Amino acid sequence: MSENTQPNSGPPAAAMPHRRRVRYAGKNPRRYEEKYKEHRQVGDTVAKVLASGKTPAGTHRPIMVAEILSVLAPQPGAVGVDCTLGYGGHAEQFLRALQPGGRLLGLDADPIELPKTEARLRALGFGPETFTAHRTNFAGLPQVLATAGLAGVDMVLADLGVSSMQIDNPARGFSVKETGPLDMRMNPQRGQPASALLAHSQPEALTRLLVENADEPHAAALGTALAGRSFATTSALGEAIRQALPRLTRDEAGLSVRRVFQALRIAVNDEFSALTTLLLQLPKVLNPGGRVAVLTFHSGEDRRVKKAFEAGLQSGVYAAIAQEVLRPGPEERRENSRASSAKLRWARMAA
Ligand SMILES: C[S@@+](CC[C@H](N)C(=O)[O-])C[C@H]1O[C@@H](n2cnc3c(N)ncnc32)[C@H](O)[C@@H]1O
Repeated sequence: MSENTQPNSGPPAAAMPHRRRVRYAGKNPRRYEEKYKEHRQVGDTVAKVLASGKTPAGTHRPIMVAEILSVLAPQPGAVGVDCTLGYGGHAEQFLRALQPGGRLLGLDADPIELPKTEARLRALGFGPETFTAHRTNFAGLPQVLATAGLAGVDMVLADLGVSSMQIDNPARGFSVKETGPLDMRMNPQRGQPASALLAHSQPEALTRLLVENADEPHAAALGTALAGRSFATTSALGEAIRQALPRLTRDEAGLSVRRVFQALRIAVNDEFSALTTLLLQLPKVLNPGGRVAVLTFHSGEDRRVKKAFEAGLQSGVYAAIAQEVLRPGPEERRENSRASSAKLRWARMAA
């Protein structure tokens, strides 16, 4: 029975706007909304999508799970924090390893995906005594722990950036491939969308932002071409970037489009300042011997993590840190194209 045909299930039919279900167009739907077999996990559709190295719509595949479990070593009875809950892929594994007696706090800035993930983890049997979800920026981790009455935790994970659910849903405005409002906020209830940031930007400042946040080699040309302009949609911005770089091949211009989107997303969500704050706070929130793992996806993030961990080792706050960055194995890179740029670093507090 569909929702609308249930007795007493909402306003009368006259008050309901008529919404047609987006049809599944042929065997290979391209648009996010058309992928309802993936959204609803129908038949073997999800298995086929996974086998092709892609991520089914509305889901996220956790990256470097075995490596993260190995460096964080969650134990029964321990307390952990997943700073970037996302779809809950890492969290689910932590929750299994922390039982019996352990507890996980899951943080995420995203008010749209967080309740879905909380419901998914509850449906797997993790009640409020073992798992709590917190809609907050991880820069506020000490306050979350204080409210929960915790003086410290045994392990922390931060898997940076955005989830596949966020990237793939054009309505969130992160997608390079599909048109949507130029938004890019992890929390659409706070801050300004990317369209406003661009409209209020000056060429020099935008050029600096493109270099600092994405190492964009054509930053000066793009800063001049894009600053102060109004773009309502992701595709309008993509098109303007291509037009500003007429000598590049389609593929080269495509890379610039991705980098500009990355740079704007980092700025809109103030990602570097949240990461810097978290890195400073880690020694205060980790118990003696506690462990942290950070998964990064571009050089700006990795540089900050590497520097903070090295400084902590030198000052004696950390007893050990990753000597080399860890990367996903060839099999994971083949199976999940989104894992290819991942880098993992870890640190362990002095006992
Ligand atoms: C790569 S996904 C995490 C995926 C997750 N590990 C999983 O297995 O499903 C990153 C998530 O972190 C959230 N996020 C990013 N920066 C954040 C911040 N500063 N504070 C809170 N959440 C953040 C995003 O909203 C997104 O849901």
